[in-house]
Amino acid sequence: MKNSALSRREFAALIMTAPALLNSKQTSSDAARVKIDTGRTVGQIDEKIYGNFLEHLGRCIQGGVFDEGSPLSDTDGFRRDVLTAARNLHVSLLRWPGGNFSSNYHWKDGIGPRDSRPRRLEMAWGTIEDNRFGTHEFLNYVAQLGAEPYICANLGTGTWDEAQQWVEYVNFEGDTATTRLRKTNGRDKPWSVKYWGLGNEMDGPWQMGHRTAEDYGKFALEAAKLMHWTDPTIKLVAAGSSNFRPGADWTGWNRTVLQYLKEHIDYLSLHCYVGNPENDYYEFQASTLELADRTRVAKGIIAEALSGAPGNRKIYIAWDEWNVWYRARGDAQRGRRILEEHYNLEDALVVSSFLNTFLNNADIVKIANMAQLVNVIAPIFTNEKGLFLQTIYYPLQLFASNCRGVALDLATECPTYATKNRRAVPYLDFSAAYNTDGTLVLNVTNRHRDRALDVAFEAEDKQFAGEFQVSEVNGPDIKAENNLDSTTVKANVGKPVSANGKILKCTVAPHSFTQLKGRLA
Ligand code: AHR
Repeated sequence: MKNSALSRREFAALIMTAPALLNSKQTSSDAARVKIDTGRTVGQIDEKIYGNFLEHLGRCIQGGVFDEGSPLSDTDGFRRDVLTAARNLHVSLLRWPGGNFSSNYHWKDGIGPRDSRPRRLEMAWGTIEDNRFGTHEFLNYVAQLGAEPYICANLGTGTWDEAQQWVEYVNFEGDTATTRLRKTNGRDKPWSVKYWGLGNEMDGPWQMGHRTAEDYGKFALEAAKLMHWTDPTIKLVAAGSSNFRPGADWTGWNRTVLQYLKEHIDYLSLHCYVGNPENDYYEFQASTLELADRTRVAKGIIAEALSGAPGNRKIYIAWDEWNVWYRARGDAQRGRRILEEHYNLEDALVVSSFLNTFLNNADIVKIANMAQLVNVIAPIFTNEKGLFLQTIYYPLQLFASNCRGVALDLATECPTYATKNRRAVPYLDFSAAYNTDGTLVLNVTNRHRDRALDVAFEAEDKQFAGEFQVSEVNGPDIKAENNLDSTTVKANVGKPVSANGKILKCTVAPHSFTQLKGRLA
């Protein structure tokens, strides 16, 4: 006879489903409603939100994008298969060389004949940097990728001179010792790199050259002046908050830094990593609400800093490192194969929700870089024989391929659930992009682990015009992963939804991300 008491495993399973069960009444009959008015917009979607990031860390560059001598690489040493996968991801902006690495990177080590470049002790990740991939290699790679470069200067152990001379080497037309060096190294014309970072995570005690907000503000201000005097057209990104640990005054950091730099910068960099260390699916899915909160607060601090400023000065937010990262983390991360996260479906859903959040804040978020591109907390994963695309590749690819134009300010009604930390988390997370050619893209993340949910989209000022193509990122269960042998989680083409008139109805599967693409007339 079966014991009526619950086994430990059954009990755990019940606890896991509790949030969903608590809300079962709400969700069984309630369909979500989304009102769409093309006159009600958040802002222009900047393609630079589909950026990515390369750091000299683990196998991101060496063994990732760059693998000299591999049969899979071209004559520059670039892995051809990785380049193709990165091109298909439509990477718009590529940040380099770090990350924490940038705070001990001296760019002159990475120019000139590769075999003569110095090997240096690298202190951010406890390794040796051979400098075979440097400024020329990076800018050549970005050109082949078809992206814009974004260079992060060393404001940790670096000097004002170094930062200024890097801009001169890369962007200056005139005849100077520095530009002659560039020419000797095989590049006549300047590259005109527009985006430059004033250091990385300078608020973090883990950062080499970490300073107080005042000290960083003063130091970065002098660097910014010299960099601008070298090339007035560059856009500068200040190191805003990355330290959101209890007790860290993240709002105070931004406020102080902006006081020093507000006349010189165009972007404030913020970083956000989330994870599921307690294996609490519903809490994890809600983690992007924190991203939305921080965005709102940072936007207010920027508005405060600029209030009363002459002219129409704007400073935008650059979420220039974001992703799911928690398994391959901590002090044990030393050696070659570090930060190699294997992503599953629940991570891909959170990634889709990050992207919804960027669209829903398109007026202020103008740069975002998923960290990173290959192997290191990345959508592309290689070994010496090939690669596979991780689960998180697919939502990013769908957004980057299709979400252009303006982001719409949607009015939504949707059933919610509660977690330990949040009272009302919508089961469905939405965003929408509308292009001048009439294309409408609707994004829906269904956080519900067990139920399909109905959605009615209502066109307020226009009409739906015919078929909407459907792409769905999903898999057999929330822990499903991809690997070198099989792709379990990917974007599948669904049955098109037909809609003429004011209402478009669809049903989104449990634990899925769905994108609908069609037209308004
Ligand atoms: O992306 C990995 C690391 O995360 C970066 O080096 C650093 O900027 C952040 O803490």
